[in-house]
Amino acid sequence: MVTKRGFGSGILNEPDKLERILEGVSTKINIELSIKCRLGFENENDIFSLIKVYNKYPLKEIIVHSRTAKQMYKGLAKPDVFYDLIKESKHKLVYNGDIILVDDYYSLNTKFEKKINTWMIGRGLLQNPFLANEINGNFLSSESKKILFEKFYNELFEGYRNKLQPSHILMRMQIHWEYFSFLFINQRKIYKSIKKANNINVYTKRVDNIFIAEEFV
Ligand SMILES: Cc1cc2nc3c(=O)[nH]c(=O)nc-3n(C[C@H](O)[C@H](O)[C@H](O)COP(=O)(O)O)c2cc1C
Repeated sequence: MVTKRGFGSGILNEPDKLERILEGVSTKINIELSIKCRLGFENENDIFSLIKVYNKYPLKEIIVHSRTAKQMYKGLAKPDVFYDLIKESKHKLVYNGDIILVDDYYSLNTKFEKKINTWMIGRGLLQNPFLANEINGNFLSSESKKILFEKFYNELFEGYRNKLQPSHILMRMQIHWEYFSFLFINQRKIYKSIKKANNINVYTKRVDNIFIAEEFV
């Protein structure tokens, strides 16, 4: 709905509109502006015309999720297109897309000839909240990770409990577990059991059991 109306990534199909927005915004604000965008709506090469528009305006940085909007979250990100963009952009570029493992970061850093020094990680961090630390060379034992993760989980759950009604908390937490389950050896079994919990009491009992019985990767 959003993109069909020409909003969100729908703007990528309308460079003139993008230019009008940037013209209007950049003359009226006195804070730094960053852009997060995809490579294009359907065509990954659209980014090369869009970058010419971005180049005309003062921007703090451009975060490029290296997929098209049409790909949504499916299919692989396209770091090769991002690489070609580096020499076209006047602005600092931030790479985003498919950094799931420590090695993903290192091979992308090599591919980009170490020209990129800011990175955005989405699902990789949801699956492994320790990823950024590990990229920086700090690895913890499974036991330490489990203790830290349980503390983080409890804070997150408390935060939701203070804000949302039980059925909404359940829905939110089930989405989180789609990613958190990767932290455990029995990933599939854990995600299935959380997804099947039909009320918050069943859910909390299952989570308690997971923290008692299930081994971390
Ligand atoms: C659960 C979830 C919520 C997201 N919400 C937003 C959002 O509100 N705004 C945004 O620009 N991107 C959002 N994204 C996209 C991510 O910022 C990122 O661009 C995308 O996941 C690709 O990076 P990845 O391959 O590292 O996951 C979201 C992604 C996920 C998985």
